[in-house]
This record gives sequence, C-alpha cells and structure tokens, in this order.
Amino acid sequence: CARETVDLHDCLELVTGLARHAGKIIKSRINQKKTIETKANAIDFVTETDQEVEKLLIEGIKQKYPNHKFIGEESFAAGEKEVLTSSPTWVIDPVDGTTNFVHSYPNVCISIGLSIDCDIKLGIIFNPILDMFFRAIKGEGAFLNDEPIKVSGVKKLSDALVAVEYGSLRTEEFRNIVDHNIKYLALNAHGIRAAGSAAWNLAQVARGAIDLYVEMGIHAWDMAAGDIIVREAGGTVLDPAGKTFHLMHRRILATSSTEIANEVFPNFKHYYPDHD
Ligand code: IPD
Ligand code: CA
Ligand code: CA
Ligand code: CA
Repeated sequence: CARETVDLHDCLELVTGLARHAGKIIKSRINQKKTIETKANAIDFVTETDQEVEKLLIEGIKQKYPNHKFIGEESFAAGEKEVLTSSPTWVIDPVDGTTNFVHSYPNVCISIGLSIDCDIKLGIIFNPILDMFFRAIKGEGAFLNDEPIKVSGVKKLSDALVAVEYGSLRTEEFRNIVDHNIKYLALNAHGIRAAGSAAWNLAQVARGAIDLYVEMGIHAWDMAAGDIIVREAGGTVLDPAGKTFHLMHRRILATSSTEIANEVFPNFKHYYPDHD
C-alpha cells in the first residue's frame, strides 16, 4: 500500500476551487446548443464540456500532485477497464448527468472522490446549476454548502422516497432486471424518482431527501464521492446483494438505515457487470 502522506484538507481546498471554476463553465453552457457524440450506444452521450471539464480537473490536480493517479470517465477508451491501486487516486466524473446536460435539465453534478490505500477518503459533489456543494472527509461528517447534513433515518420501504435509474444499457436481460426492481420499489414505497445523475441521487440520500437509491451497471466515477458523503452523513452503502460495497464492482445500494437495506436487498433481481 502507498505510504505517501496526503493532507486531505489541502486536497479538499484544491478540488473545491477547481470544481467551482468548472461549475461556471457547465452553468454557462447548459442552455446552449452542445456538440454531442455518442460512445457505447445511441443514448450514451459525451459533449465537449464533459471532456474539457475532465481535462481542467485532472490538469489542475496534477499541478499540485504530479504523482497521483486518475480514474476519469472521459479518459477511458471504450472497452478499457479501470483499475484501482493503493496509490492516491482521484476518481472523477466531470459531468454526471450528461443526458440532463444535453437536455438542459438541471440535475448535473461534478463528482470527485479521492481514494488512498483503496479507500475513499474525500468526496465532493457539486451541482453548479442549483449551487449545491456537498463534501465529506472521512471521519469529519458530511456537509451541504457548509451546513452539516444527515440521512433521514427512515427504516421501512413503506416510509421511503426512492431514487432509481434506467441507465443507458438496453439489453433485454438488463431491462427485465431493472423493470423488476423498479416495479417492486415503486409499489412498496411512497414514490420513486429518476433524476438522471447517480451522484445527485447519492447526495440526496446523504441530506435525507431520498431514503434509498439502487443502481447496477454504473461506474466508480459515479459512486466514489457519493459513497463517502452518504457514509459520513450516517447512511449505509452496500452492494445491492447486501454484501460489502466495492467501488469497482459497478453496483450500489445506498440507504438511510441498515434496516431498510436489509428489507429490500433479498427482493432484487441482480445484474453483475464485468469488473476487474
Ligand atoms: C450516468 C448517470 C445516470 C446513471 C448512469 C450513469 P453520466 O452518468 O449517473 O444517472 O443512470 O448509469 O452512467 O454518463 O451522465 O456521467
Ligand atoms: Ca457518461
Ligand atoms: Ca456518471
Ligand atoms: Ca459523466
């Protein structure tokens, strides 16, 4: 494991400045016409802004920490597998909610987590359109715009507001699994919401507005920052099968309590994406 000493407060200050700068770029472009390309399929979008913001964030961090590693969504070529090592590694989603951005829908977040010794130590999620800045350092609690936040503590699905997503995978197997899980949640909760950003969903669990969020098929950059922000707000983060969460396994269940997690996970159908 890496033994480089990293001051997490210095790291937070650096990424806060970079994310606020990047946020201005995103906000200035959200209502404009975008240059859009597709990646894995016809609804998997990337815009110039996703690429530009990722570059800005990585270059800004590299200037201060030239030896750190990066796992950034737009730096990965199709089919390449991201690998987490014990070195300090910044896990970056420059625009989480690209489909929202393309449609000028205001749930768009910058999501940045810092992993050291294969453990997320720091995370920020910034929605520049709504000016909501979430942050957490391990052991120091979670904050929204400098105010401490806590999960709701809801313990039963029948009392819960639930976040779900359909993702961008369109195979029949995947759709059947997601259909089953969404139907089960929708029929047993107060309601379901699909906001189009994994980071946003996790931030809402952390601040107690959503009580449960589950998604299978997402990536480390969708989850890294939200994982620590939810935990530091007192929430539970697990693999959707009820096991220990693993950042590289592309699956997450984040809840307001262990009770609600234990109630729901035996009822899910499962999708296990490829991972290292
Ligand atoms: C996507 C969003 C979406 C989730 C997808 C992600 P992107 O990220 O978080 O909510 O359902 O699985 O890929 O591509 O907008 O950064
Ligand atoms: Ca994407
Ligand atoms: Ca994402
Ligand atoms: Ca993205």
